[in-house]
Amino acid sequence: MDVQAWMTQAREQVEQWIQESVGSWRAEPVSVEEAMAYSINAGGKRLRPQLVLAAADYLGIEQERIQNAALAVEYLHTYSLIHDDLPAMDDDDVRRGRPTSHKVFGEAMAILAGDALLTEAFVLMTRLGEAGFAPSGVVRATGQLARAAGRQGLVRGQVQDLAGEHQELSLEALSEIHRNKTAVLFEACLSIPALLVEDPHQAQVLSSFGRHFGLAFQMVDDILNVVGDARQLGKATGTDAGLGKATYPRLLGMDGARALLGEHVRDAKHGLDPKKAEVLEGLLTFAVERTW
Ligand code: IPE
Ligand code: IPE
Ligand code: MG
Ligand code: MG
Repeated sequence: MDVQAWMTQAREQVEQWIQESVGSWRAEPVSVEEAMAYSINAGGKRLRPQLVLAAADYLGIEQERIQNAALAVEYLHTYSLIHDDLPAMDDDDVRRGRPTSHKVFGEAMAILAGDALLTEAFVLMTRLGEAGFAPSGVVRATGQLARAAGRQGLVRGQVQDLAGEHQELSLEALSEIHRNKTAVLFEACLSIPALLVEDPHQAQVLSSFGRHFGLAFQMVDDILNVVGDARQLGKATGTDAGLGKATYPRLLGMDGARALLGEHVRDAKHGLDPKKAEVLEGLLTFAVERTW
């Protein structure tokens, strides 16, 4: 299996679905859809929808059937970036190589575009029944995404991230923040296909892969914030130190952070069927070796 070719195909498939979906939105001169499309169309790695597709492949589910889940996680992720960049949060001016939403549309519209992307994600999830998944599976998968997004997941992590600024945190506290703000959504991306076909064992195995993947991914994000190239990343560097953010490089130093990253990469593969895990492992390698 040529993993690189798989990733190119999956990325192009996701792009095509996004263009069809965004193209169906009404666009008036001052519309929330314009702001939503601005951030969605800015690109990004589309890693979360690729994880949905890779988990579907792993389980033998056709990619076409999982389309709405792939779109949902990318829309939800894009909402989280728009809000993460707001002046009240990380106060960033550049994202995905473009001025951030609030810089272009103002804070009120950026908040509303984020709200609309978050809710759109759940509109899409409810439509998975049209692809022939049982209503009980659709409810479980939708519930999983809702939990990952809310007070037990991403929102909780963002609250902890902000409260942790300029604090001396333990390794445990830091890993709890990263798990919530980032890894829980990765866990959802991986487990949603298994929940849709009502396979709780695979949901567990894939979710564990997602947890290690997400933690490794956020470590790389923190490392790139120190050593990365802002143009290539499409966002500013050095900002974590400026805000006194709790990060692995700050707590463990660069070598310590890299060592822990290696542990998560090793542990991630545990429990996966190696005969079917090539794409999942390839995506993990991409995520840790990336420079953007
Ligand atoms: C950025 O995520 C936010 C984190 C959780 C670190 P990505 O690095 O996946 O952002 P895009 O989608 O490629 O822009
Ligand atoms: C990532 O937050 C988590 C979410 C956006 C939910 P960060 O603040 O660490 O991500 P970047 O570095 O701005 O992309
Ligand atoms: Mg942040
Ligand atoms: Mg940020």
